[in-house]
Amino acid sequence: MRVFVTRELPGNHLDRLREKGVQVEVWPGWTLPREVLLERVEGVVGLIPTVEDRIDAQVMDRAGPGLRVIASYSVGVDHIDLEAARARGIRVTNTPGVLAAATADLTLALLLAVARRVVEGVEYARAGLWTAWHPKLLLGLELEGLTLGIVGMGEIGRRVAQRAEGFGMRVVYTSRTPKPLPYPFLDLETLLFTADVVSLHLPLTPETHRLLDRRRLFSMKEGAILLNTARGGLLDTEALVEALQSHLLGAGLDVTDPEPLPKDHPLYALKNAVITPHIGSATTRAREGMARKAVENLLAVLEGREPPDPVV
Ligand code: DGY
Repeated sequence: MRVFVTRELPGNHLDRLREKGVQVEVWPGWTLPREVLLERVEGVVGLIPTVEDRIDAQVMDRAGPGLRVIASYSVGVDHIDLEAARARGIRVTNTPGVLAAATADLTLALLLAVARRVVEGVEYARAGLWTAWHPKLLLGLELEGLTLGIVGMGEIGRRVAQRAEGFGMRVVYTSRTPKPLPYPFLDLETLLFTADVVSLHLPLTPETHRLLDRRRLFSMKEGAILLNTARGGLLDTEALVEALQSHLLGAGLDVTDPEPLPKDHPLYALKNAVITPHIGSATTRAREGMARKAVENLLAVLEGREPPDPVV
């Protein structure tokens, strides 16, 4: 039984597979060329891919009929063709929960960075421009009293809400259905024109693709902040650039469309856009937890049990 893991993972959870006699192949590179992925999956029973790997029908067919499980090392599964997996009887699993706190922390870090112009301040100091204290230097916004609108109230959204309350923010939210939570539920349109800060926490699916189109981005309050630690495809990037030039105070983006964001992308030229390279879950605890979950899910399927985190 051979399993292909498309990147080295933190921790030693893959040893659990080895102890069970599974042959584990781990790709040692920083990136994985498509041709190599197609070669390496041949004959595997299981695959542990990351969000970097497009797992479509071609990959599944190259793996062959022995492929039983794709245990994604991620909570989002938009990089996997779920219909193709379903049609071939391949189970797909993800890693919810373990990365929620880390991602919520980074969301708040981005919010503070945008509101208090942290990156501008660091660059200003580094450039040797800090020659005096001045009452008008780098004035920003304080969070207390602002309204945070959370779009998608899953595990990450809830943790962002808890953290925001600690900063004295008022929380409102929208999601597919209202939940038993102490925050007002609003429809998306009302949330967008009510909130001072809008934070996206929903999966990328055909229904949510470019949910924040040009009209919706410009329907946000003038001077509002947009946060995206979910998926870049949830918004129209070109329209966001324009909104940042004329309408919004700023944006904190851990995910972009395209991703990685090319070096010469106009978003980088905007001082009010704080961009991090998709590191929402990048803490040792979260990434080891994701490895543990991917292995548990994979083993469950190989041993004929129901996986703890089934997607398909
Ligand atoms: C996920 O898990 O979907 C994140 O985007 C990467 O950790």
